Amino acid sequence: MSDALAAALDSRRAVVEEALDRALPPHGAWPATIHRAVRYSLFAGGKRIRPILVLAAGEAVGGTRDDVLPLACAVEMIHTYSLIHDDLPAMDDDDLRRGKPTSHKVFGEALAILAGDALLTRAFHLMAEVPPEWNGDRVRRRLAAAAILGEACGTGGLIGGQVEDLESEGKAVAASALERLHRAKTGALLSACVRGGAVLGGAGGADLASLARYASAIGLAFQVVDDILDATEGAEQLGKTAGKDHAAQKATYVSVHGLDRARIMARDLLTEALDALAPLGSRTELLAGIARLIVERRA
Ligand code: IPE
Ligand code: IPE
Ligand code: MG
Ligand code: MG
Ligand code: MG
Repeated sequence: MSDALAAALDSRRAVVEEALDRALPPHGAWPATIHRAVRYSLFAGGKRIRPILVLAAGEAVGGTRDDVLPLACAVEMIHTYSLIHDDLPAMDDDDLRRGKPTSHKVFGEALAILAGDALLTRAFHLMAEVPPEWNGDRVRRRLAAAAILGEACGTGGLIGGQVEDLESEGKAVAASALERLHRAKTGALLSACVRGGAVLGGAGGADLASLARYASAIGLAFQVVDDILDATEGAEQLGKTAGKDHAAQKATYVSVHGLDRARIMARDLLTEALDALAPLGSRTELLAGIARLIVERRA
């Protein structure tokens, strides 16, 4: 990663951390346990790729920070909820997340379920907190972004993908079904980050279509690379248990296509993402950097 990209990501990550902290009830708020559990997972050291994508998409089309920050916080809350629930014994049954014991290991299953629920609920609450002085256009854009987000984490997106992921364990899955699964469980939320950020920034027409094409490519690439890393890196590097997909007989790009082919597919998706940005010119440097990071990362 270039120094310029690292600095660009760091500065936006700092903005996100601060906004997330402000968006949650303070330490010790009633009832204390649930807020401890929520903060434990939310501030455990995630990469924050999704909220940074929201900011980058908004910036690319000339939006302000105030316009995009609630969505940036909401997507990270929803992502964190999905990880807490994904790790539960009834789902992937994982003990390690973001380099720490999983929520249910520390707080018990009931609190882990409720911490996920709390994050999901707060995310949409935040989207609905529109300043009273906002004009109709800004309010309409916020509603449109909330609808994009709701669709992405519903049964046609994240939830549907998680259902399909669990139902595919131990089964032979066709390449087309696997692509649909990955686009739903992971691609949909990543795509909503870009499209939602762009809509909040006031994008429409050809710009929005180009960004949607970029979003679709990086969304799928993200899960393809996650599958590759599960098979090639260790727990120390990933901050989560490695080799779990093979052990649980998950349907992944590695199990269906093999490692070499999966790597080529991730590269092809990067090319597709960068091609999609071309019509937008130099405003999309950060989005291009994030696409490279998604495909070239090692954690
Ligand atoms: C992991 O997401 C779960 C997937 C959707 C593949 P990330 O790799 O973004 O995890 P964090 O947020 O950095 O912990
Ligand atoms: C998780 O996919 C996707 C969601 C949480 C929606 P994985 O099960 O592959 O994620 P990791 O590998 O546990 O982070
Ligand atoms: Mg899973
Ligand atoms: Mg998992
Ligand atoms: Mg995985």
